[in-house]
Amino acid sequence: MREKKVFIVGGGGMVGATAAYALTIKEVVEEVVLLDVDADKVRGQAYDINDAAAYTDCVRVRTGNYSEIQEDDIVVLTCGVPQKPGQSRLELLDTNAKIIKDVVGKVMAQGKKVFIVVVANPVDVMTHVALEESGLPKERVFGTGTSLDTARLRVAIADDLKVSQRNVHAYILGEHGDSSFPALSGATIGGVPLNQFPGFNPSITNNIDREIREAASTIINTKGATYYGIGNVISRVVEALTQEVGSIYPVCSLAEGEYSLGGVVIGLPCLVSSRGAKILTGYPLNDAEQAALGKSAQIIKDAASKVL
Ligand SMILES: NC(=O)c1ccc[n+]([C@@H]2O[C@H](COP(=O)([O-])OP(=O)(O)OC[C@H]3O[C@@H](n4cnc5c(N)ncnc54)[C@H](O)[C@@H]3O)[C@@H](O)[C@H]2O)c1
Repeated sequence: MREKKVFIVGGGGMVGATAAYALTIKEVVEEVVLLDVDADKVRGQAYDINDAAAYTDCVRVRTGNYSEIQEDDIVVLTCGVPQKPGQSRLELLDTNAKIIKDVVGKVMAQGKKVFIVVVANPVDVMTHVALEESGLPKERVFGTGTSLDTARLRVAIADDLKVSQRNVHAYILGEHGDSSFPALSGATIGGVPLNQFPGFNPSITNNIDREIREAASTIINTKGATYYGIGNVISRVVEALTQEVGSIYPVCSLAEGEYSLGGVVIGLPCLVSSRGAKILTGYPLNDAEQAALGKSAQIIKDAASKVL
C-alpha cells in the first residue's frame, strides 16, 4: 500500500462513494479524501465508508479540501450528473463540461502536478476537457474509457464459453457510448484465438455486443444508476497508478497518431503505471474494427468541438 492520497471529487455521489469503498476494502492507498459540493452527503459517505476501514491495516476515509492536494496525488473526477432513464451519455455534455472545468480549475490552482482520472460522462469528452483545462502532460490525465464495457465483455464471453474471465483477453474499444465496439479479431482465451476456442459460435459475438450495449440502460431503468462495476474499475486503475509495473486497461487517452487517429480522446488499450497512462500500439484490429474506431472517433470529436 502506498502513502499516495486519492481525492475523489463527487465523493458524495454513488460512483464516487462506491469507488472509495472499493479502494478501502482493497487497501489500495492509506488515505481516501472525499470532496463534493453537497457537504452533508459527503460527510455521511465518509463516516459510513470509514467504518469499513476499521478492519483494514490503516486506511482512512474522510472529507477534505482542495488545498491538501500534493504532488503526484491521484484526483478522481466522478462529479457530474448521471444519465436519467432514456438519456444518452452525450446529452450530459454541457452540464458536465461546466462542472469538470470548474473542478479542474480548483485542482490546478494548488499548483501541483497530479494524476487526474476522469469518470463523469461522456467520459471521453470530459477527459479531453480536463486535459485542456489542466495543461498537464497527457499521460497524467485519462478517463476510465471502455474499461467498464470491457469488464462486461469478459464476463459475457466467460459465461458463454464456460471459462474463467481471468483467461479472457478481449476489449471493447472506442467511445464509452453507443459507438463502442468489441475488438474481437485479436481476442484470445488463454492464448487461443477466440474463434478457435472450443464451443465458439459466431452468433455469440452478436448477442454479446447487444447485451453489453444494453447493460447500462437496463441497470439505470431498473435501479436508477450504475456504480458497482465502475467503482471497481476506478479502484483497479488507481491501484495501477500506484505501481511501477504497468497494467493494461482500455482507458481513454489522447490519441496523436496511434491507430491512425489524431486529436481525440478515446478508449484504447493503455499501459497504466506510476508514470500514468500510455496508449499501447500494436493491438491487432481488422478492417471493420479500424473503420468502427474511426467512426467512433468522429462522434467524440464532433461532441468535443461543442465544449472545447
Ligand atoms: N465512465 C463510466 O464508465 C461511468 C459509469 C457510471 C457512471 N458514470 C458517470 O459518473 C458520474 C457520477 O455518477 P453518480 O451516479 O455518482 O451521480 P451522483 O449524482 O450520485 O453523484 C455526483 C456527485 O457529484 C457532485 N458534484 C456535482 N457538481 C460538483 C462540483 N462542482 N464539485 C464537486 N462535486 C460536485 C454531486 O453533488 C454528487 O454528489 C455521472 O456523470 C455518470 O454518468 C460514468
